[in-house]
Amino acid sequence: MRRLLLFLFLVLAPICIHGDTDPSDAAALRVMFQSLNSPGQLTKWTSNAAGDPCGDNWKGVKCSSSRVTQINLSGLGLSGNLGYQLNSLTSLTNFDMSNNNLGNQIPYNLPPNLQTLNFAGCGFSGNLPYSISLMTSLKYLNVAHNQINGELQDMFGKLSSLSTLDLSFNSLTGNIPESFSSLSSATDMYLQNNHFTGTIDVLADLPLKNLNVANNKFSGWVPSQLKSINLQKDGNSWNSGSAPPPPPGTPANRQPRSGTTSSNNSGDGGKKSGVNGGAIAGIVISVLVVGAVIAFFLLKKRSTKSHTDIEKMENQPFASLGSHPHGLQELKSVQASSKENTVAFQIPSAINLKPPPMEHHKSFDEDDVDFSAKPMVPKKISVAPTNVALYSIADLQMATNSFSADNLVGEGSTGRVYHAQFDDGKVVAVKKINASAVGVGGENFIDIVSDISRLRHPNVTELVGYCCEHGQRLLVYEFLKNGSLYDFLHLSDEYSSSKPLSWTNRVKIALGAARALEYLHEVCSPCVIHKSIKSANILLDSELNPHLSECGLARLVPDADQDVDTSAPEVSMSGHYTTKSDVYGFGVTMLELLSGRKPFDSSRTRSEQSLVRWATPQLHDIDALAKMVDPALKGLYPVKSLSRFADVIALCVQPEPEFRPPMSEVVEALVRLVQRTNMSKRTVGNDVRPQGEE
Ligand SMILES: *[C@@H]1O[C@H](CO)[C@@H](O)[C@H](O)[C@H]1NC(C)=O
Ligand SMILES: *[C@@H]1O[C@H](CO)[C@@H](O)[C@H](O)[C@H]1NC(C)=O
Repeated sequence: MRRLLLFLFLVLAPICIHGDTDPSDAAALRVMFQSLNSPGQLTKWTSNAAGDPCGDNWKGVKCSSSRVTQINLSGLGLSGNLGYQLNSLTSLTNFDMSNNNLGNQIPYNLPPNLQTLNFAGCGFSGNLPYSISLMTSLKYLNVAHNQINGELQDMFGKLSSLSTLDLSFNSLTGNIPESFSSLSSATDMYLQNNHFTGTIDVLADLPLKNLNVANNKFSGWVPSQLKSINLQKDGNSWNSGSAPPPPPGTPANRQPRSGTTSSNNSGDGGKKSGVNGGAIAGIVISVLVVGAVIAFFLLKKRSTKSHTDIEKMENQPFASLGSHPHGLQELKSVQASSKENTVAFQIPSAINLKPPPMEHHKSFDEDDVDFSAKPMVPKKISVAPTNVALYSIADLQMATNSFSADNLVGEGSTGRVYHAQFDDGKVVAVKKINASAVGVGGENFIDIVSDISRLRHPNVTELVGYCCEHGQRLLVYEFLKNGSLYDFLHLSDEYSSSKPLSWTNRVKIALGAARALEYLHEVCSPCVIHKSIKSANILLDSELNPHLSECGLARLVPDADQDVDTSAPEVSMSGHYTTKSDVYGFGVTMLELLSGRKPFDSSRTRSEQSLVRWATPQLHDIDALAKMVDPALKGLYPVKSLSRFADVIALCVQPEPEFRPPMSEVVEALVRLVQRTNMSKRTVGNDVRPQGEE
């Protein structure tokens, strides 16, 4: 009998597989159908799990074997979005969605192996997503007639197969990035009707046949190499003087080219000589620049208490600064001890308050630079931090009632945290670093304090002082009234005074925490890996703004001391932390926000104990989501916001670290979610439905 079954299986199995679409391709298309609001024009399409795009001949879909290779839904009057699973369409080469109403931003997780991508006339705004920079097979890219805006990132370094690039009729600004010089197959380029500035020198050595740069703000001279091709250049501010001497020799030699640019091309955004190799380097640098600028403005805004809102978001989680003693008292000497012996540091009596040189890629008005806006800089010598106060152990003992149990407010892997109140009424949180935690890697406490004191972001807990006496190591932070997110979410029954978090507040907390992590990863230099992203390390102030704690303290803890419930699979296996393992921890935290459940809950049935394992397979199913969402919300949440929130989680908790998005993309996705939610709140009131209702 068993043999017969085996025989039947062997005979039937190939038949079943034949014509069946690859499951992840099929899933991606079903999600796309749903996200496009299940339009009738898409004949044969269904979001039903039995739907088979290749076998059932879905409109506009072509397959090869069981894989989806082409999707052409051009001009079908579609609206909605393309779903969140596009990146699983790994065999898709032709993707034509042109002339539909897909609104908002180009999805950032595009199919990775595209050769043809046509998003012309789709109503997209925002900028080109990072995923395009990795499409080494891309031959044709058309995003014309959208509202794409901002500067192009230096993301074209790997697109050496690209022959046609159409960016025309958008609102792009800034200079053409240097990496355009890597477009070594480009024959057709359409940049007309944008707001590009600077010269087009970078295009000189490309094999162009057709080039349209009309109606921009280009200046300088048209390179002589481009004069023999089909060039449209009207509507710019070309220099009318006699042309400069052409660069010696036409062969690609980028160094002299940027040197001979004789127009006044002062805006250096995206223009960096020496970044020609690799889109990644370019993008990382662009992100750093953008991040530094954002951080600068955030901090500047904070310090000037201006109410203009860069993100046009009403409920943007800016933290109140609290009492910030720019503890610039004169420190004559600081006693600090390293692991083995005690060293006395002699501090020059006139402390130099001038910030260390900023990265060179932006020239800020020096006087305007908030001292605290400085990202971390690597240092070799121990210098006492100058923007935090030095406390004596006696003062801290007094303020914490001799570190009494009553004053204990938390305990982390590095030590216990106490509530402290000084005679003048000032309240702070004092972290007593465990003796065992000090000096991992032989690092000096003063160095660590100095680095932490440089971390300044509205969503990062602010170090206000430290104490280093009699072998004790203490860090003094701003005190955050509402404790940790973990306590707020999971212990609220015991503290019945606190109300459950509203959906809006949950999103606000996720966004603020994402911004903090983006700051650590992408603004700070060197980048700071947090290693312990979890709800217990997200503190809430009186307005429920999140403040990420334990930043910069990872160096105090051995890598082995990990929290198995929140750490990424690769960390559990190798103990190796990266920014992507932080992203995973962030995804788990978002899951906690969504579900109200702990990352691990032994009181639940076995299959539901691990939150990630239980929740992840259900994140794409709207009905399952409605059951998964925190019952404390009592159904009060916009359904679309919830499912977009779940989409972001799904990206963050992917088992493969390289597929998890960088934090800047998470921030972007959450900002979009907030904006759309605000928009739909203003227009329709029925986006909120009771839980479980269809
Ligand atoms: C998609 O279909 C449209 C109209 O049917 C056609 O003009 C276009 O060339 C197709 N795109 C691709 C990439 O084949
Ligand atoms: C370049 O700038 C200088 C001073 O900044 C100005 O005198 C000159 O006219 C400018 N040249 C061009 C080509 O714009």
